[in-house]
Amino acid sequence: NVFEDEHIAAKKVARRIADIIISKQKENKNAVLGLATGATPVEVYEELVRLYREEGLSFKNVITFNLDEYYPMKPEAKQSYVRFMDEQLFDHIDIPRENIHIPDGTLKKEEIADYCLEYERKITDVGGLDLQVLGIGRTGHIGFNEPGSAPNSGTRLVTLDDLTRRDASREFGGKENVPTKAITMGIGTIFKAKEIILMAWSKKKAPIIRKAVEGEISSNVPATFLQLSDNVEFILDKDAASEL
Ligand code: GLP
Repeated sequence: NVFEDEHIAAKKVARRIADIIISKQKENKNAVLGLATGATPVEVYEELVRLYREEGLSFKNVITFNLDEYYPMKPEAKQSYVRFMDEQLFDHIDIPRENIHIPDGTLKKEEIADYCLEYERKITDVGGLDLQVLGIGRTGHIGFNEPGSAPNSGTRLVTLDDLTRRDASREFGGKENVPTKAITMGIGTIFKAKEIILMAWSKKKAPIIRKAVEGEISSNVPATFLQLSDNVEFILDKDAASEL
């Protein structure tokens, strides 16, 4: 689905999220959302905050699971995804704090494996993800599932690709300050969502969008696994779609 510009596209994604929340409210059920960080979803979150403030959209029945977090990472650090989500969305809406889940970047190494299993269990216990929103990294990562990730991978500790660390270097004031690892939901975790939306804007993403959509399915470009699912929608602006 290609839109004239990213503003229209982001509003479209926010509308889809709002519709899921509202339809679940009508059934007296929770809406379970898988959320992403990065520059791409910023305007989606802005629009959701606007819908809360101006149109009375409530998030009281919303449960969220974020895709990933750097490891190690303190929640109060400038680059943490906990802080990002608070600043972009959670601090501005009425979501109950206990409904928010973001992988914990402060765990001891030996605690991570059990924690990741528990993260998966929590998603299952609330009925699975109704919607997972995704950005895409220039390595073809979704979440932090870098090249080499298996299609059935679960939540786990991963090593970040050099290109991913270079792309993050500005936020960290140099590549050497970017953590080498992260905790991420797996491709298998993402695949279990009832609906998946991958968003990409700008010319910078055009080459990887072409590979993800038209390239051979391979763990070299983890986003190509999305070709195997029939509940995935790519929402792109014209620039990101320009090499298709
Ligand atoms: C980040 C995140 C991904 C995100 C991607 C693209 O590192 N872990 O979930 O989709 O890289 O980021 P951006 O939206 O800033 O281009």
